[in-house]
Amino acid sequence: MNDNSFSPIGVFDSGFGGLSILRDIRRHLPQYDYIFLGDNARAPYGVRSFQLVYEFTLEAVKYLFAQGCPLVILACNTASAKALRNIQQRDLPLMDASRRVLGVIRPTVEAVEPITHTGHIGVFGTPGTIQSRSYEIEINKLHPEYKVFGHACPMWVPLVENREFDSPGADYFVRKDIDALLAQDSDIDTVILGCTHYPFLVHKIKEYLPSHIKLISQGNIVAESLDDYLHRHSEMAARLSTNGSCRYLTTEDAERFSHTASIFTGEKVTATHVTI
Ligand code: DGL
Repeated sequence: MNDNSFSPIGVFDSGFGGLSILRDIRRHLPQYDYIFLGDNARAPYGVRSFQLVYEFTLEAVKYLFAQGCPLVILACNTASAKALRNIQQRDLPLMDASRRVLGVIRPTVEAVEPITHTGHIGVFGTPGTIQSRSYEIEINKLHPEYKVFGHACPMWVPLVENREFDSPGADYFVRKDIDALLAQDSDIDTVILGCTHYPFLVHKIKEYLPSHIKLISQGNIVAESLDDYLHRHSEMAARLSTNGSCRYLTTEDAERFSHTASIFTGEKVTATHVTI
């Protein structure tokens, strides 16, 4: 489908995690049309090489452009950490300089300052995001004095992708990873959930995180930042169609995606299988 009256915002993730971002974006900006694309067939991205994450993400962006999206949000920290800069600086000018691809790390980092008192920040993320040190680099650009402690949680995405986020098995890994992060530094007072899958584990995370530590979850932050972006870029806002629709695409089995996405979003999702 690519007609001029349909110019949706593309929202991309390796899997179900991006639904946590889409949910909040749609709550803030319900008027726009959306296409969500989950590359479930190739998730998780968090354990893959820089080159593969870049290639997969570029394929997804091209696909969403071909569906008519003038703007694509990488609702994925791993893709934002490993692919966004190359796509923005190298590929976009060659593909179509009038389109935009935005990530989730920068707006999250900008939200840290009013929350922390100690300036000691913990970050949970996929192995790829933590190894990239993107959070540390971006936070220290704004606040060189802050100390950033990352911890990779390789089991958290599979727990969500396999709908085990509510199981007793999840408690074991959530507690273990929280203990490992906090063992790095006793002054951490703010923790970033630096993976869009993690909000689906938030009840368990809150159970094991000491109550004086504040948790930064990305959905609202990204939604407010997109709202602000569209106010500042009225030419982009004017290009987007506004029928309030949302389509769901997955590279895996559509029925399985629809079932799980309906649980995560709380509304009936009917997805379509695509090859990208
Ligand atoms: N949801 C993604 C993120 O925010 C990636 C998860 C994965 O595929 O490993 O990092």
